[in-house]
Amino acid sequence: MTDSNLILRRMKVVDIPQVYALDVTSFSLPWPERSYRYEVEENEHSRPWVMEDTSATPARIVGMIVVWLILDEAHVATLAVHPDYRRRGIGQRLLANALLEAQKEGAKLSYLEVRKTNSGAQALYERFGFLVDGVRPRYYVDNGEDAILMSLRPLDPQALTALLNAGETIP
Ligand SMILES: CC(C)(COP(=O)(O)OP(=O)(O)OC[C@H]1O[C@@H](n2cnc3c(N)ncnc32)[C@H](O)[C@@H]1OP(=O)(O)O)[C@@H](O)C(=O)NCCC(=O)NCCS
Repeated sequence: MTDSNLILRRMKVVDIPQVYALDVTSFSLPWPERSYRYEVEENEHSRPWVMEDTSATPARIVGMIVVWLILDEAHVATLAVHPDYRRRGIGQRLLANALLEAQKEGAKLSYLEVRKTNSGAQALYERFGFLVDGVRPRYYVDNGEDAILMSLRPLDPQALTALLNAGETIP
């Protein structure tokens, strides 16, 4: 795979089986598959994106993000990259693109929840400038783990464009 084989585009209904498989691989509390259908087909606030590896046959969904755009807020609802494709800048590109597109639609800030022990995701968010706002104790029902609340404000299109382009580092 080279960087030119990676396509970042909006999620479609046909992607959902692969997106759901990626979710199950990535999270101990995956969303039900029908949730993704709702995000793609019905939720007017939803901006779901995927990264597709077109060098695979058939093309493979290797990353996904769902952002909810509500008034001037972009809520990062979920983000995952397949384990075989991590640490290659894909999560960074997905997040930068989704926030940039939300900013173009009027979002001024972004916020999210992340597990307290998920230091990898927190490192990614810190690179974007997300700051910790607080904690939701015992937020996750599978193990009672706390959620860390993080937010990024304002959404700066220049900084997001730089992060989007810097994510394209795959040889
Ligand atoms: C979190 C996740 C989406 C990151 O995706 P990714 O494509 O591997 O991330 P990137 O390669 O774009 O990382 C960009 C930067 O973020 C930071 N980062 C990402 N993952 C990291 C990790 N596991 N440990 C430390 N830093 C990490 C690093 O600074 C990294 O830059 P570097 O590789 O040059 O050091 C991916 O690990 C994942 O899907 N995890 C499981 C699901 C999950 O936790 N989602 C987030 C829920 S809030």
